[in-house]
Amino acid sequence: MPRTARQRKKVLVTRAIDPAALMRLCGAAQVLAWDEEMPPPASELRSALADADAVLSMVTDKIDARMIASAPRLRIISNLAVGVDNIDVEAATRAGIAVGHTPGVLTEATADLAFGLLMTTARRIAEADRHVRAGKWRTWGPMTMLGRDVHSSTLGLIGFGAIGQAMARRAMGFGMRVLYLKHRSGKRKPKLDARLAGATGVSLSRLLSQSDYVSIHVPLTPKTRRMIGAREFALMKPGSILINTARGPVVDQSAMVAALKSGRLAGAGLDVTDPEPIARRDPLLRLDNVVITPHIGSASIAARARMAAIAVDNILDVFAGRLPRRCANTPVRLRP
Ligand code: DGY
Repeated sequence: MPRTARQRKKVLVTRAIDPAALMRLCGAAQVLAWDEEMPPPASELRSALADADAVLSMVTDKIDARMIASAPRLRIISNLAVGVDNIDVEAATRAGIAVGHTPGVLTEATADLAFGLLMTTARRIAEADRHVRAGKWRTWGPMTMLGRDVHSSTLGLIGFGAIGQAMARRAMGFGMRVLYLKHRSGKRKPKLDARLAGATGVSLSRLLSQSDYVSIHVPLTPKTRRMIGAREFALMKPGSILINTARGPVVDQSAMVAALKSGRLAGAGLDVTDPEPIARRDPLLRLDNVVITPHIGSASIAARARMAAIAVDNILDVFAGRLPRRCANTPVRLRP
């Protein structure tokens, strides 16, 4: 039975979030906050969802059709992320549950990290730091730690939405030529900001064969899963570098290891892996030309605070009887 307006709604928050946003939510609902370092196990999540009106979830919470079926009161899954691939969005829509997300506010922070990974990998910054800490810096060397130029090179963007375009603006500031993957049908033209007039839309094979750096910015969907595999690595310019701040499964990781070992790829800068966290014995961890960060693309203090604020707003919108302002499954018919 739905709660009456006088009864406080129950909200599960699956990890510690920005305190100001949490306080706001606590003022409007009864909040059950899971604040352990590790996400709630599936069994805990399922039992907490059994009588929750809303959940403020993370990319680490798998909310599948079974989980949704066992949450009869749930009206919104508010993900603290732009990506919603951890949620069965179709099952939520069928059940009349809104899926909220947080686009926009993490665009620049994620592009900053992607460009940082590009610079780090190209100029071997992490490797050079390890070299110094290991006491190997004995003198200045004319052939020591030589990297690749970033300025005047070509960046290929797979995914030219908000984050891809933010990456393009950074690249243009460094004097790079920018290519982006044109939608196959050619029909869906990306909305381009005027500063990106110099970027060129090309086919995947042209992008891969001409780019010194390839950076991935597509959501994970059945279509993009493993879209970069052995065939695509074979098309890449020898000695190029791959950057992935989107989702690990967009890349076939074993094919990437083979490409790194063969030298086809000179390096990879990865904020996401498949699986996450990366297995301790994963061969990527033994390669010096790979830089890996633990899925921190949006992890700036300001971006995470804004994400938490929107995730709370999305819930409050639904409690006020409207769709969340950032809804990933419009049009959904909200259950009563
Ligand atoms: C997202 O927003 O989808 C990120 O991966 C988590 O910040």
